[in-house]
Amino acid sequence: MKNKIFIGNNLDWLNSNKMSEFIEKVGLVYIDPPYNNGAKLSYKNSLGTDEWALAMEQAIKASYKYMSQDAAIFVSIDDRELVSLKIILDKIFKKENFVGIFITRQAQRSNAKHINTIHEYVLCYAKNKQKLPEFKINRIDIPEEKLMIDTIISKVNEEFKNYGHDSAQHLLQDLIQYFCSLNNIKWLRNYNNIDEKGKIYFAKDLSTPGKPRSVNISSINLHLDPLLTRGWSSDRKFIKLYKEDRLVFRRNRPYEKHYLNEAQDSAPSILNFYSRQGTNALKKMGINKLFDTPKPVEMIKFFIRLGCKRNTYIMDFFAGSGTTAQAVYEVNKEDNTNHNYILIQLDEKINKKSPVFDECKKLGINPKMQYILKYRIDKYLQINNRTIDYDFYDA
Ligand SMILES: C[S@@+](CC[C@H](N)C(=O)[O-])C[C@H]1O[C@@H](n2cnc3c(N)ncnc32)[C@H](O)[C@@H]1O
Repeated sequence: MKNKIFIGNNLDWLNSNKMSEFIEKVGLVYIDPPYNNGAKLSYKNSLGTDEWALAMEQAIKASYKYMSQDAAIFVSIDDRELVSLKIILDKIFKKENFVGIFITRQAQRSNAKHINTIHEYVLCYAKNKQKLPEFKINRIDIPEEKLMIDTIISKVNEEFKNYGHDSAQHLLQDLIQYFCSLNNIKWLRNYNNIDEKGKIYFAKDLSTPGKPRSVNISSINLHLDPLLTRGWSSDRKFIKLYKEDRLVFRRNRPYEKHYLNEAQDSAPSILNFYSRQGTNALKKMGINKLFDTPKPVEMIKFFIRLGCKRNTYIMDFFAGSGTTAQAVYEVNKEDNTNHNYILIQLDEKINKKSPVFDECKKLGINPKMQYILKYRIDKYLQINNRTIDYDFYDA
């Protein structure tokens, strides 16, 4: 089986030769270490900064050789250790491979004495930034854009079905104007066409910078005169677009149909993924009390979609409740990909004072972090009618 869960200290596993088959095979690392901010949690969360930094540096350094040349690492953190983490990552990956910092919004805390901190960070580095694929993402995978796009598509679709093309076209113009001014955006203006099936698209120009040329492809009956100052896309591209039913003509000129639900953008630096979404994912499975700081599944899916442009291993060596595993399952299902995960989780006893400890007792789980992890993944697989598909290497 290709998914792997290793129980024990991440440094021990990463430095052992038991994982050597994964060297240079990992296309994405996501980690969410204890933030070391003193918050009382089910797992250990308060070391001295030096001790914490040393453990982080050693583990990340040990993980470096597993990353493929085109890989990226994403690390969650909050204000407290942000600076020491940045210094560690700069040292290991070098400043030229710093990709950027995401800010992830968090719910308002009302009891702050001074600053109501409503964000955390995710630091991103590439093993080799020159080889890192572009971080293009479908706009519908960005939460606030998804809502807008879904709204436009469903309203226009409804209008198209009930009143036909012209009426839908009017509505589309109104919606574009409304959302562009509401959200202060311009890109949406391009998506101002509706095809014969009621789908909204952007007619993308198919001329290219370069030498003027004529096009003669008799197999698809396409004959174009040369333009004055620009060239045309390649014959191969025209044939491909034709076969995909994406070639559209306006005033005798060919365009590519680019549908609204496929609109892409580079990754925004501020992300609206809230911690409570992580808890909600567990709630859906009836196990929300089983872990105190699960990350939002959608956030890790977002990073996988950004960073993995081919099937690969996704590694998380601070696995916690195994959100990364669920994210991998969901991306595979939704995007038809075939990623695998490698998780490492310390053999760690749950703090007896934490409500998580009581929940473990209630569910008959041995109160250690690795059994919470296993329980969560098994529950996910069971709910989705899937069989267990990972190897579990217990401590
Ligand atoms: C913040 S939690 C991760 C939560 C996870 N992202 C999730 O969504 O469930 C950090 C986890 O790292 C684990 N951990 C701490 N030190 C570790 C080490 N040296 N090796 C492996 N795991 C470790 C802790 O037991 C804890 O479960």
